[in-house]
Amino acid sequence: MAIERTFSIIKPDATARNLTGKIVAMLEAAGLRVVAQKRLYMTRAQAEGFYAVHKERPFFGELCTYMTSGPVVVQVLQGDNAIARNREIMGATDPAKAADGTIRKTYGEGIERNCVHGSDAPETAAEEIAYFFAQTEIVG
Ligand code: CMP
Repeated sequence: MAIERTFSIIKPDATARNLTGKIVAMLEAAGLRVVAQKRLYMTRAQAEGFYAVHKERPFFGELCTYMTSGPVVVQVLQGDNAIARNREIMGATDPAKAADGTIRKTYGEGIERNCVHGSDAPETAAEEIAYFFAQTEIVG
């Protein structure tokens, strides 16, 4: 299996409910290692840039408002098939459709307030990691 890195965000709905540790525990139990992590407020420009792929979607403005409404924890996760593994443990975007035992099923409040983000492919993982982290901040 290939050791990969993926990018993860613990979103404002989760930090507001003090769930950072519980979510990190679920990521670690799934075999992922946190090799970089910081807590920050996203600026509007950062959120709009990060989610630019969704800019034509009707929920784009609301999504950017939500993502800047409180602190987030941005992370780099490392492990065997980390991108797919993280998507598995996160569960479906809509918590109502997510499998039992996933982060979104366990803690998600709705399709927008779904606790976590994870990269969907190697190219987006590399771009998203570089959007928030310098190479020197990633310690494997
Ligand atoms: P994420 O995996 O971070 O990618 C885009 C985000 O947009 C998604 O998680 C949700 O937070 C949000 N999102 C996706 N679909 C919808 C929707 N139909 N309505 C509102 N927000 C959505």
